[in-house]
Amino acid sequence: MSVEAGQAFLRIAYGTPELSEQLRAMTGVQELVRLGSRHGYTFTVPELMEASSSTAPGPAAGRPAATAPATRDIRAAARPDPTPTRILHHEYRLTDLPGFGGVAEQLQHLKIKPSSVDMGRFRRTFRDEDLRSTDRSPADPEYRAWHQERARTGWRDPAVGPDAPRRDFHLINLDEHVDHPGYDRYFAAKHRTIAELEAAFGTEVRFSGSLWYPPESYRLWHTNETQPGWRMYIVDHDEPFPDPAETSFFRYMNPYTEEIVTLRESPRMVRFFKAEQDPTRLFWHCIVNPTTRHRWSFGFVVPDDWMARLSVRA
Ligand SMILES: [Fe+2]
Repeated sequence: MSVEAGQAFLRIAYGTPELSEQLRAMTGVQELVRLGSRHGYTFTVPELMEASSSTAPGPAAGRPAATAPATRDIRAAARPDPTPTRILHHEYRLTDLPGFGGVAEQLQHLKIKPSSVDMGRFRRTFRDEDLRSTDRSPADPEYRAWHQERARTGWRDPAVGPDAPRRDFHLINLDEHVDHPGYDRYFAAKHRTIAELEAAFGTEVRFSGSLWYPPESYRLWHTNETQPGWRMYIVDHDEPFPDPAETSFFRYMNPYTEEIVTLRESPRMVRFFKAEQDPTRLFWHCIVNPTTRHRWSFGFVVPDDWMARLSVRA
């Protein structure tokens, strides 16, 4: 194991189109360690982080892989956004988007429940107080004070200690689970998904997160302001909802009006929204699955001109 092995692997990965494409299918650093090992390069996560800080990316890969492999290329390929749009979200049925047939076929392989997840621990870390915070408005000063206090302690309960789970994510990040028998099949499906999406958009696309929301899960109010730009989320469930009023949902605050918008969900849908960095236009949003169904969402960084590239209307 060594930093040099990490550097050698990153150089090869940056310079090889096939491997660069695989990097765009990854969001977890453990995934990179595993990919390196499959190619005969053995290094640890800290060694990879050190290697990443000292290895310049080649023309094929954009930023260092451990952070954001393809963001720079996407930004360069995108046209500038001429005016701040007032339409803040766009939703489609997966089957209505041109060129997404191959992506739809991958969903069955992406919607996994890794055997390495400790579901007992997951259920024990549910907090009703946190779930109920999604019914507040992020513009409410009382909510702001609650949020700031939790953020100050890194969303971890100081009384529980440094191993306390983060309270703002009560969900499972699939890319943090690489030590289960289904990981390689899952990763192959992520790789095929990237290939399908890049064909549909005609440019580079990368995964931004692969999340499993079991029953009673949530992602609390946040802005993603440190990673501005358009996101696309493919959302699916294990089964349809019998009652359209009781579903998982995505909620956001319109930064211009402070109106709270709740978007009810159904299986196989695609949502686009833009994370903003301007403090006056922050896109506060949260996600809640208060149902007995399982929900998955697969997020991607997509080019600013995604709508023109897909030839779809708002
Ligand atoms: Fe988000």
